[in-house]
Amino acid sequence: MIKLGIIGTNWITQQFVDAAHATKKYQLTAVYSRTTEKAKQFGEKNGATGFFDNLTDFFKSETIDTFYIASPNSLHFEQAKQGIENDKNVIVEKPIVSNIKQMEILRQTLEEHPQARLFEAARQVHQPNFKVIKGQIAMLDRIQGATLTYMKYSSRYDAVLAGETPNVFTLNFAGGALQDLGVYVAYDAVGWFGMPDDVAYYPTLTSTRVDGKGVAILRYPEFDVTLNIGKTSNSYLDSEIYGLKDTIVMDNPAELGNVSIRDEAGKETVIGTKPADNPMISEAEDFARVINDPQNELNDRDYWTWLDLSQNVNKLLYNLRQSGKIVFPDDAQ
Ligand SMILES: NC(=O)c1ccc[n+]([C@@H]2O[C@H](COP(=O)([O-])OP(=O)(O)OC[C@H]3O[C@@H](n4cnc5c(N)ncnc54)[C@H](OP(=O)(O)O)[C@@H]3O)[C@@H](O)[C@H]2O)c1
Repeated sequence: MIKLGIIGTNWITQQFVDAAHATKKYQLTAVYSRTTEKAKQFGEKNGATGFFDNLTDFFKSETIDTFYIASPNSLHFEQAKQGIENDKNVIVEKPIVSNIKQMEILRQTLEEHPQARLFEAARQVHQPNFKVIKGQIAMLDRIQGATLTYMKYSSRYDAVLAGETPNVFTLNFAGGALQDLGVYVAYDAVGWFGMPDDVAYYPTLTSTRVDGKGVAILRYPEFDVTLNIGKTSNSYLDSEIYGLKDTIVMDNPAELGNVSIRDEAGKETVIGTKPADNPMISEAEDFARVINDPQNELNDRDYWTWLDLSQNVNKLLYNLRQSGKIVFPDDAQ
């Protein structure tokens, strides 16, 4: 049984703990929170017995072998590094880092601590429909491009409009649309088409100076991919990948709920399957497979493929951010 310790006590952590427990391969043993009271409040209802408000003690605890980190974005790097340095496995919520330099340091730290495994919780990559779409793209006559749209109004934008600065809408916490919903479409693009040759990002800034929404253009040798992302309005557009006469259509590029292909006549054939109610179960299963048997050839290959993909996606996010002239305080370090 994987002994799980968590950072972050928000709803996303609850969803991951539920997914982890559903696989029957993890047991939540410990919770870190800025207050022990909150750690207890979250942990006791989920079966944990260790409660920490000191990160050093938490990372050294023998009661944990795998950490799940769902803190604000700018804290991911230091916390992940600390976990690896203690020879533990670390699952980090997306985006795993705030800039590419941090990713290089994490890779170096992994080399120094070969027992540790590092995962970015990019949940849709582990869902069956992600692979179905990749397979379908390989069968297209010729890729003509794609438009991927993920815009969902954030309840926290209400707070911005009221003059507050919630973490996800601040530069200090490496927030903004690109670093949030943009991560999903960046994973789609790199996972399905590889790294683009050139990129541009046109952000619409909020009063807190992060990108509330934006349009990214990724240039590949023979086609372009357009990403529409935003946290300050809702879009109900489908996302599409274009072949010559066939078009792959998905209702949402992160949830990958309904996936179909339309032929020249517009006839629709469903190619996807219905995802599990908890979208984090597939990733929890995949990570457990690697953690429980890291030497297995297939597990080892998958692990490095995910890590390389994560590095490339974060490189793309960084390049887009440079193009949009969005600078985080961490970039200077
Ligand atoms: N995969 C997904 O579907 C998904 C969905 C949502 C979010 N996420 C990711 O999960 C991460 C957390 O997102 P969130 O919206 O839950 O963030 P958040 O509410 O801003 O913070 C998450 C947790 O970090 C702690 N925290 C809050 N403010 C802090 C501060 N100033 N300093 C130190 N710790 C602080 C809090 O835990 P304590 O009060 O217990 O210390 C809180 O529960 C992000 O990286 C986000 O991208 C992923």
